[in-house]
Amino acid sequence: MNRESRALSGMRPTGPLHLGHYFGVLKNWLDLQENAQAYFFVADWHAMTSDFADTSGIRRNIVEMVKDWVAVGLEPDKCVIFRQSAVKETAELSLLLSMVTPVSWLERNPTYKEQQQQISSKDLGNVGFLCYPVLMAADILIYRPYGVPVGEDQLPHLELTREIARRFNSCYGQTFPEPQALLTLAAKCPGLDGRKMSKSYGNSIFLSDNFADIRGKVRGMFTDQTRLRKTDPGNPDVCNLFSYHVLLTDDQTRADIREGCATATLGCVDCKKIFLKNLKAFLLPIQERRAKLTERPGAVEEIFAAGNESARTFACVTMDDVRQKMGL
Ligand code: TRP
Repeated sequence: MNRESRALSGMRPTGPLHLGHYFGVLKNWLDLQENAQAYFFVADWHAMTSDFADTSGIRRNIVEMVKDWVAVGLEPDKCVIFRQSAVKETAELSLLLSMVTPVSWLERNPTYKEQQQQISSKDLGNVGFLCYPVLMAADILIYRPYGVPVGEDQLPHLELTREIARRFNSCYGQTFPEPQALLTLAAKCPGLDGRKMSKSYGNSIFLSDNFADIRGKVRGMFTDQTRLRKTDPGNPDVCNLFSYHVLLTDDQTRADIREGCATATLGCVDCKKIFLKNLKAFLLPIQERRAKLTERPGAVEEIFAAGNESARTFACVTMDDVRQKMGL
């Protein structure tokens, strides 16, 4: 990967970002903005495929999410930050790709089947949801990226993107390179209760949480469930809290914690105090950057204005080629 290679990724604006997003996704994005031509977009159309019935929160979520991005260190000078729906050419490409995409490919997509079965609170029988991967293929292919940083859950979608690209290329001639998944080992960042950190589980620490809330959350965090008293030795390898020390605590302190826990000289309450201190130190600069951005009205709109334009310029070049190849 070098500065000449393009990487692209998107995120649906579904709510405030938490530590799981940071360690699972955003940390990789921060690397990519230094080491590739990086494009990051807010997938607002994708959010609508499942949340079409109530779109009242979407504008706010979009702005807040971009604030989180900038707060953690994405810089509009180093990467292109844009909004999916601002590049209408993506919708055109999605339509054109739907011509070469068999319905059966979409119906057998594991993510599609799983979500239709599991999410009973929403009606997911709409065409938009079925075509989610076609839109995603358009998002990706229109920028002809070399790599797409995604979590493992997105691999079936990316496989479909490659299949669609292959089919398009075989019908109309070589147009789209097949994008690779950039999978970095996601750091383990469980929720407060040890399950996956997820807004819908109510077990998240948000990047924008105030410190009073954070104190309460840390106090209630699960630790080694088999350690009942301070005098019992604990096992850091099965401790939920210790996974966070792996992410946020320096090596020496972490070694001391391991020792103190295993010999029952350090209790969970004190261990949490160390964590709380480190967590605050980590979040402070993030929240300061966020506050600065919030002070400047229109800051996010400004970022979009530049990013949308630059993304669109690129997309238009691809579309000229696509239309010509398809004989339009
Ligand atoms: N489906 C992705 C998710 O839910 C979001 C997304 C939409 C995306 N289009 C994309 C990711 C293109 C990477 C590339 O997280």
